[in-house]
Amino acid sequence: MTILGIESSCDETSAAVFRDETLLSNVISSQFFHSEYGGVVPELASRAHLKSMLPIVRQAMLEAGITLNEITAVAATQGPGLIGSLLVGLNFGKALAISLDIPFIPVHHIEAHLFSTFLHDPHPDFPFLGLVVSGGHTMLIRVDDIGVYTLLGGTIDDAAGEAFDKVAKMLGLGYPGGREIDRCATSGDPEAISFPRPLLNSGDYRFSFSGLKTSVLYHLRKHANKGSLTLTEQERNDICASFQRAIVDVLLEKCMRAAKEYSITDVTVVGGVSANSELQRRMYEYGSLYDIQVYIPDVVYSTDNAAMVARLAALLAPRMTTTSLLQASAFARSGDRLFRAYP
Ligand SMILES: Nc1ncnc2c1ncn2[C@@H]1O[C@H](COP(=O)(O)OP(=O)(O)OP(=O)(O)O)[C@@H](O)[C@H]1O
Ligand SMILES: [Mg+2]
Repeated sequence: MTILGIESSCDETSAAVFRDETLLSNVISSQFFHSEYGGVVPELASRAHLKSMLPIVRQAMLEAGITLNEITAVAATQGPGLIGSLLVGLNFGKALAISLDIPFIPVHHIEAHLFSTFLHDPHPDFPFLGLVVSGGHTMLIRVDDIGVYTLLGGTIDDAAGEAFDKVAKMLGLGYPGGREIDRCATSGDPEAISFPRPLLNSGDYRFSFSGLKTSVLYHLRKHANKGSLTLTEQERNDICASFQRAIVDVLLEKCMRAAKEYSITDVTVVGGVSANSELQRRMYEYGSLYDIQVYIPDVVYSTDNAAMVARLAALLAPRMTTTSLLQASAFARSGDRLFRAYP
């Protein structure tokens, strides 16, 4: 199979070609202009997708060295995401599939993140535990097979990436700011400030990052000089390092506790926050100490990309009937629960 994957759920327009077990291309165009507004502006995002979709798909095919008639299926992100942005990629993909008379495979964005480490060799074996930490989601999922998922817990308020972005904004580090916090934290003291570790001992797999973000805000207010925030570079770096330490402590502890409870030895950490250097370092460290295989995608596959969409589609295709392949909606979604309705 030669699958063209399309991703447009938020502010990245991406197209990729995956043939058999090989990724032939993965082209990503990021909409950097949103930083000026301090967050993604949905209407501007969908208009930008409209402009870049065709050139990005063309570029992906060019880099893969294939022509239109070599594509055997088209896959696109169906959701969750910004509705206007999703519609651009989804309708482009569907129209292309119909015009070429080939199957269309709708892909769940979080499910695609979950399988992003399957772009690498080796990748996790079933059953594995997936820690999804992205801009909009924080979830711990037990994966017994493709399509067989148990949601062990998720965030009850902010996602981990959202907390990184909001704290970065408070510190004037721009948007999205997770990577900047990571960079500043390398020169900071993670023990300088004792921020809370929310729900660390809740006895379940729920997460909460909203209070942690507010603690950073209170800390900043307390140290504001007559209302104006003047931080030295070292103070800012210490806040970044201490905040990052608090988030990583919670993610690591809950994830590894679940691995122990369910006797699972393969863990994958996916989504944009999985690019965090401290999270990676501590996950790998813990893994090697306790014999747990930790799989984290290369940074290009951790934030939004079409390679993971095409990869998941290649895993799904053999399990779907021709009818379901041609249906635009092969799965049902309810809140944060993931479940795929196979025929
Ligand atoms: N090195 C890093 N450290 C911490 N956070 C990071 C790092 N690099 C990226 N991020 C964060 O990753 C997030 C983006 O990830 P991703 O593209 O997976 O999210 P999204 O697609 O917007 O959300 P979702 O997948 O839930 O719909 C942003 O919040 C960004 O700040
Ligand atoms: Mg994403």
